[in-house]
Amino acid sequence: MTQKSDWFKHWFDTDYYHTLYDNRDYNEAEFFMKNLVNHLGINKGSHILDLCCGKGRHSNFLNSNGFKVTGVDLSKNSIKLAKQNQAENLEYLVHDMRDEFPSKYSAVFNLFTSFGYFEDDKEDLLVLKNIKNSLLPGGVAVIDFLNIEQVKNKLISEETIIKGDICFNISRYIKDGFIQKEISFSHNDKEHKYIEKVKCIDLNKIEMYMAKTGLKIDKIFGNYNLDPFNVNESQRLIIIAS
Ligand SMILES: C[S@@+](CC[C@H](N)C(=O)[O-])C[C@H]1O[C@@H](n2cnc3c(N)ncnc32)[C@H](O)[C@@H]1O
Repeated sequence: MTQKSDWFKHWFDTDYYHTLYDNRDYNEAEFFMKNLVNHLGINKGSHILDLCCGKGRHSNFLNSNGFKVTGVDLSKNSIKLAKQNQAENLEYLVHDMRDEFPSKYSAVFNLFTSFGYFEDDKEDLLVLKNIKNSLLPGGVAVIDFLNIEQVKNKLISEETIIKGDICFNISRYIKDGFIQKEISFSHNDKEHKYIEKVKCIDLNKIEMYMAKTGLKIDKIFGNYNLDPFNVNESQRLIIIAS
């Protein structure tokens, strides 16, 4: 079954999503978060929103380092998994990023390409407005997006990835302004087909979005080591804004 409309509601809510991306693990999250909170100089005890937290790999680390963390995600399955590590000053909620956020925060982190899913730009803008409105005075927003130019240049159109007993057949292409990834596999005697679609948002477009929502870009990094952004070489486009 291909789930094309609101694909993000279906694919991210499956166990298969977590299986395919199991290399995006706690170590990667820990490395990035250490560098990021060092750079931002956020005080211990501050409240951070992990917007689209998934299973909570970044939230867990931030909380174990003395921050109060709320992780929100649309996927009930991911929030259920995240809640297995619930702790003091760490809460997880099912929440759609297009809806107003539950509180105000010293920092809002939107990590590992958790943006650019919506067909209509107005919904991307709504998310950024929600971020802006939820920042406490002096608060900071972080959008960790892919570097669209690098993705376009290095696009692998066909790939097979084996994880355990599942052979994922991946097909990637750019269509209608989105990087699209079709994921097909057989499992439990069934054929499965899912799609991921991430909007081709480059730095110019992010700058335009930010200007429209009153967010000011303070810094741009190109990877989790926080090296400067280089449009031809960087893997990530990491925006720090306030
Ligand atoms: C690429 S994953 C990243 C997850 C997590 N940040 C990480 O690094 O492991 C994107 C996440 O965004 C969530 N998501 C997608 N659409 C959403 C929405 N409208 N509101 C809230 N979360 C959403 C998905 O359920 C998924 O967990």
